[in-house]
Amino acid sequence: MSKTSDTKSAPPAGASRRTLLLALLVGLAAGVMTAVLVFALPDQTGAPKTETTGKALVGGPFSLVDATGKRVTEKDFAGKPMLVYFGFTNCPDVCPAGLQVIAAALDRLGDKAGGVTPVFITVDPERDTPELLGKYVASFHKGIVGLSGSPEDIAGVTKAYRVYAKKVPDETQPGQYNVDHSSFMYLMDAKGEFVKHFPHSVDAAKLADDLAAAMQTSGATATGL
Ligand code: NI
Repeated sequence: MSKTSDTKSAPPAGASRRTLLLALLVGLAAGVMTAVLVFALPDQTGAPKTETTGKALVGGPFSLVDATGKRVTEKDFAGKPMLVYFGFTNCPDVCPAGLQVIAAALDRLGDKAGGVTPVFITVDPERDTPELLGKYVASFHKGIVGLSGSPEDIAGVTKAYRVYAKKVPDETQPGQYNVDHSSFMYLMDAKGEFVKHFPHSVDAAKLADDLAAAMQTSGATATGL
């Protein structure tokens, strides 16, 4: 470090003291606010104190139809972490981008990829039949499970996962529509409880690391460690 760079740390003493005081006050206020949030939230929501407050907010029971036409529920996927992603086959760019990331993460996991179930649930059950959806997801990666169902089935699962989805007219094709939707990936643990979420643009290497960590945690839980 040169001597000249040290000289900038010598403003008038009064100004520096005021700055320091301000910084202390801001820090103190932030600390108090954090403390208020941390301690007040569990009481406001009435959540049990032993649970983290975020756990129950995303996920839950569902009943959907897989590519073979079989009805499946969350119980069929229990015992392994699940990566849940919502979208539709006519999606112009976001869903394909997200599915490519998932496929790349699965490729990175290699042999370990079987330890997690990646699920793509349609927000467009009217056009995405189970069969069509199955073919679509298989074009990205054969390990991805496509799930459709009745509009009521889909309404139930989007509500459980707090997914926003709304039909909007397609400006480029009269009579057609798109579906505006939130595009997060939800990592659920082996018991079906929410762990964390990722944006569709998440880095495939990071996603693979987090999936591997979730598998390790699940394995440890399963063996009682
Ligand atoms: Ni989409």
